[in-house]
Amino acid sequence: MLTAHPDPESVPEQCRRKNAIMNVFLIGHGGREHALGWKLAQSPMLTQLWSTGANPGLLSLSKPSHVAPDDHDAIVSFCKVNNIDLVVVGPEAPLVAGLVDDLAAAGIAAFGPGREAARLEGSKHFTKALCDEADIPTAAFGHFSNLADARAYLAEQGAPIVIKADGLAAGKGVTVAMSAAEADAALRDCFDGQFGDAGASVVIEEFMEGEEASIFVLCDGENMVPMASAQDHKRVGEGDTGPNTGGMGAYSPAPVVSDEVLQQTLHNIIAPTLKTLAARGTPYRGVLYAGLMINEDGPKLIEYNCRFGDPECQVLVMRMQSDLLPLLVASASGSLKDVTIDWHDDPALTVVLASNGYPGSYDKGSVISGLDASMDQDNVVVFHAGTREEAGQILADGGRVLTVTARASTIKAAQQRAYDAVDKIDWPEGFCRRDIGWRAV
Ligand code: AMP
Ligand code: GLY
Repeated sequence: MLTAHPDPESVPEQCRRKNAIMNVFLIGHGGREHALGWKLAQSPMLTQLWSTGANPGLLSLSKPSHVAPDDHDAIVSFCKVNNIDLVVVGPEAPLVAGLVDDLAAAGIAAFGPGREAARLEGSKHFTKALCDEADIPTAAFGHFSNLADARAYLAEQGAPIVIKADGLAAGKGVTVAMSAAEADAALRDCFDGQFGDAGASVVIEEFMEGEEASIFVLCDGENMVPMASAQDHKRVGEGDTGPNTGGMGAYSPAPVVSDEVLQQTLHNIIAPTLKTLAARGTPYRGVLYAGLMINEDGPKLIEYNCRFGDPECQVLVMRMQSDLLPLLVASASGSLKDVTIDWHDDPALTVVLASNGYPGSYDKGSVISGLDASMDQDNVVVFHAGTREEAGQILADGGRVLTVTARASTIKAAQQRAYDAVDKIDWPEGFCRRDIGWRAV
């Protein structure tokens, strides 16, 4: 059994090298990957961590590979030359593009689902059809590949209603339409090609009411180990208003996820999903992120993601006591049975600092200072997302730029601690929401 203190004997043979020490190649270079790298770097099993991109936070813990996450051939060659024992794939795009399959074909172990199982995130219709097949509670839906049929269904259903581009649309393909006119505009956007191939077909869904939360589960194709729950804030504005973003902050655990909700989710939603995929010969390995709508009828599935959330990963790693590396190895190698994961009971909360203008257009290149002072407190870590380093200075280089993460005895205390750290960062060209965690506080 894998425990908080990794026992070299517990590391599956397939991934074991002499002394159970490992070279790990982490794919992706946002805030989520800095958080994963930060946690992996604490593992006594780690020999060397390699990374993609030029995230200065991640580069303080790893060596640069100079390989792009979408260049599968270059990743395979890099792994062979550098004796990589495990590839950890952070973002969804390489998973959906089949990076894990290409690595497997070259005999290289990887954490994350293969191409077919990653369709849980890559195609909304794939997931809805699977829910139908396995009787998983979710919103009623229709699936259409032309505007006329979609409009006819919309006329039957009326608003409020939810329009979703079928494929990966960088978080922008979903419209929660409060009026039929808004729904019709969203349909036209999809079929006019606004989302490229991702909008070639649409899912139209019943509007569900309730409170949203996410549950993260580690899977090895057969077994599952629940990790933790989290809640994120997708809207850019305070009070959860304004346009959707990749996420402006998060906290874990989510108070709405009671033991009962967790058990219902595992039993009614996740277990039948894993069983169905395994029966099809495309077992799910990696972390499964279930986005849920919770009300008095219990949890219903909104969507699946095939990777850790960003910024939910940041709060998960802050709460995780166990060594992450043997857990990822066990997921990749089918040996999660009887594994348990230890967590700090204390909650964690993260605040995203974004460039002024995000999620619209924004400038790059402004100087950020005060980062060292901001981390000068116990249980505070500032994870880098869209930053770069130039001449010893940290510069903004993206929309979501930093995630300021804190753990404390209550969500309110974690919120206070995170904002104390935020206030030490000097970056006039950036902003954050001041109300992360409001529902829980
Ligand atoms: P998704 O990318 O599928 O998670 O959708 C983005 C957001 O849209 C979700 O986090 C929800 O806030 C909202 N949403 C998606 N589907 C529904 C639904 N059927 N009913 C209500 N809200 C939804
Ligand atoms: N924070 C939402 C996501 O990672 O999809």
